[in-house]
Amino acid sequence: MSTPRHFLTLLDLDPAQLLRLIRRAGELKAMQRRGELYEPLKNRVLGMVFEKSSTRTRVSFETAMIQFGGGSIFLSPRDTQLGRGEPVEDTARVLSRMVDVIMLRTYSHEMQQRFAAHSRAPVINGLSDLHHPCQLLADMQTWYELRGDMRGKTVAWIGDGNNMCHSYIHAARQFGFHLRIACPEGYDPTILDEPGNAAVVRLERDPLAAADGADLVVTDVWASMGQEEEARQRQQAFAGFQVNAAVMRRARPDALFMHCLPAHRGEEVSAEVMDGPQCVAWEEAENRLHAQKALLEFLLEKPG
Ligand code: CP
Ligand code: NVA
Repeated sequence: MSTPRHFLTLLDLDPAQLLRLIRRAGELKAMQRRGELYEPLKNRVLGMVFEKSSTRTRVSFETAMIQFGGGSIFLSPRDTQLGRGEPVEDTARVLSRMVDVIMLRTYSHEMQQRFAAHSRAPVINGLSDLHHPCQLLADMQTWYELRGDMRGKTVAWIGDGNNMCHSYIHAARQFGFHLRIACPEGYDPTILDEPGNAAVVRLERDPLAAADGADLVVTDVWASMGQEEEARQRQQAFAGFQVNAAVMRRARPDALFMHCLPAHRGEEVSAEVMDGPQCVAWEEAENRLHAQKALLEFLLEKPG
């Protein structure tokens, strides 16, 4: 049996594969807009394990499987044996003998690696504490649709050095853009010592300096899932790191603003920017569906 391809981070695919996937996502979007029936995954099943809440990830994967002619199963640790201590490795062995592809949304990234190591089926990271690569496929698709090539562009990440920020670091490597990251002290990304990462990043403490002349400004929540108890302390630490009109004025006049959602107006982003003309968060959200369809097709196609 051949080893399955997994998608745990953006580094699991090479730059050419990522670009092909994004182009394919655009084709699949156009096909759907034309009302074309396309069911390449008839009788195929996606198993989805969610340790955390989700709106976009769950709905986009379920919709993708229905539109592709297959089906999906939603699993939560609360009502599976995983929540009662069945080892991750055993769960991976069992699930991957039944379903064709598996999506995991977990706290620990290491759990996804252990799962993938024991899975016969491709495993997709639908968010871990370290990475959110599916969101980056949608973000990059959105950029390519609206602005074309990403190479040489400047992206300003403002806020927490979290899972989304980490996936932007990988995206900068894979898609060839410059990344400036403005985080308060103590909230820097934790993957900068991974080979290849530090070279694509410029760390700033001043959001205005990070945004200066940027083509794209991105942020995310100040307290991610699992950090609810730190929310108050984080609000204090991140005051001054809001993406607002003053930050957007420092970026290029045609700069776009992205947010993976859910957004908290008045915290990481002002309502003016979130509901303003530079915000493309709704396109980004829709593209989760198209980009993940392209990903499912890629992971399930027969190698060679
Ligand atoms: N952006 C994103 O992953 O949203 P959900 O948490 O709703 O899936
Ligand atoms: N950083 C956020 C992303 C949500 C899609 C979180 O992990 O909660």
